[in-house]
Amino acid sequence: MKSRRHFIQKLSAFTGASLLPSLKALSADNLLTISQLSPNKTVEELATDEDYWYQIQQAYTVSPQIINLNNGGVSPAPLVVQNAVERYGKFANEAPSYFMWRILDQGREPLRENLAKYAGVSPEEIAINRNATEALDTIILGLPLQKGDEIVMTRYDYPNMLHAYRQRELREGLKINYVELDLPAEDNDLIVKKFVEQMTPKTKVVHITHIINWNGQILPAKRIADEAHKRGIEVVIDGAHSFAHLEYKIPDLGGDYYGTSLHKWLSAPIGSGMLWMKKEKISKVFPLIPNDKPNSDNIRKFENLGTRPFMIEQAIGQALNFQLAIGNARKEARLRYLKNYWAKEAQSHIPKFKLNTSLKQEFSGALAHFGIEGLEGGKIEGELLGKFKIHTSPVKWEKLDGVRVTPHVYTTLNDLDRLLEGIKHIAKT
Ligand SMILES: Cc1ncc(COP(=O)(O)O)c(C=O)c1O
Repeated sequence: MKSRRHFIQKLSAFTGASLLPSLKALSADNLLTISQLSPNKTVEELATDEDYWYQIQQAYTVSPQIINLNNGGVSPAPLVVQNAVERYGKFANEAPSYFMWRILDQGREPLRENLAKYAGVSPEEIAINRNATEALDTIILGLPLQKGDEIVMTRYDYPNMLHAYRQRELREGLKINYVELDLPAEDNDLIVKKFVEQMTPKTKVVHITHIINWNGQILPAKRIADEAHKRGIEVVIDGAHSFAHLEYKIPDLGGDYYGTSLHKWLSAPIGSGMLWMKKEKISKVFPLIPNDKPNSDNIRKFENLGTRPFMIEQAIGQALNFQLAIGNARKEARLRYLKNYWAKEAQSHIPKFKLNTSLKQEFSGALAHFGIEGLEGGKIEGELLGKFKIHTSPVKWEKLDGVRVTPHVYTTLNDLDRLLEGIKHIAKT
């Protein structure tokens, strides 16, 4: 109990919450409430404990009208986070240039420390911004590359990132060498080999999407990064779908640069993201929005973003507390359990159902993609929404055509039973 109290005190000290006493109390209470719910169970036992996860669900404001199984697009924030945004917003609006720029602003450094600790890196390597696109485009467009330099990436990387490299290809004569992946994949040796085959003496950057958004494929980031480094090539990692979803620290992936959204798996307010790069790389990357010292090695040069809602940024602290209270390992296990629950059942019992995601632990977490023979993904998605009020994401990309299903910590087995009912019905008719 004593160590828990100490832990909570430390957490509260990290957040900007100390500026507003009521917020500090709320964060601590929330943390205690969640932790008291978790009995002494192993991660695997807790993953199937519906009573526990029901209480977690109650921390969200889940719609009773639709079942949201597109948390991969953007995730909702628990009420404690929503309340913080609202409270900070009201506070800021009393006199924005004073309360937002002079008071709320003081929470940024504690938040940076908190995020850095969670991510396993130095606070001097973390910039807080608005989404993964901003974080990764800062890297992609800011790296000093020139005509003839080559990039290795796959056609399954996120479109915004593909577009950023392609713009540099068009404008500055870079060249992209594509790794041709067949998804789902269950052979990491082959994946690494395919990446290595595209690396040449001219390659300067390898771009790796840790979890591919289209079907949830986990790539062996560290192994690919190690191969790149052996050849003197730098590595950019897109962690949009793995941060606060899989249990790891950023250095475990072996990259030099990393970007993620915080409004996906961390359940931070919508419009929050994070950039990381190794300290020694900072000075050579030009910011997207320059400050007066674009060559400096101060990571804060990437935060010269103009006037923006600091209430969103500051409420990231509440989302982080919430994440810590659940615990990364527990969350990953629960998310995988939910994915397996519906996907295994559908795969074994629904004719014409085709799963396009590996069910092996090292290759997927919460996200999965499926198709139904003879039906386009858009049609399946439309039926699920129209007839069953289940919101999913139609995914037609490269060789995939179907629907992506993404549960979150607030998803119940009832929701997934309803999904199975919907898929069965659609496959039959
Ligand atoms: C793999 C991947 N990278 C980057 C992004 C972009 O994220 P954001 O919308 O936060 O910029 C996404 C969004 O879905 C994604 O799936």
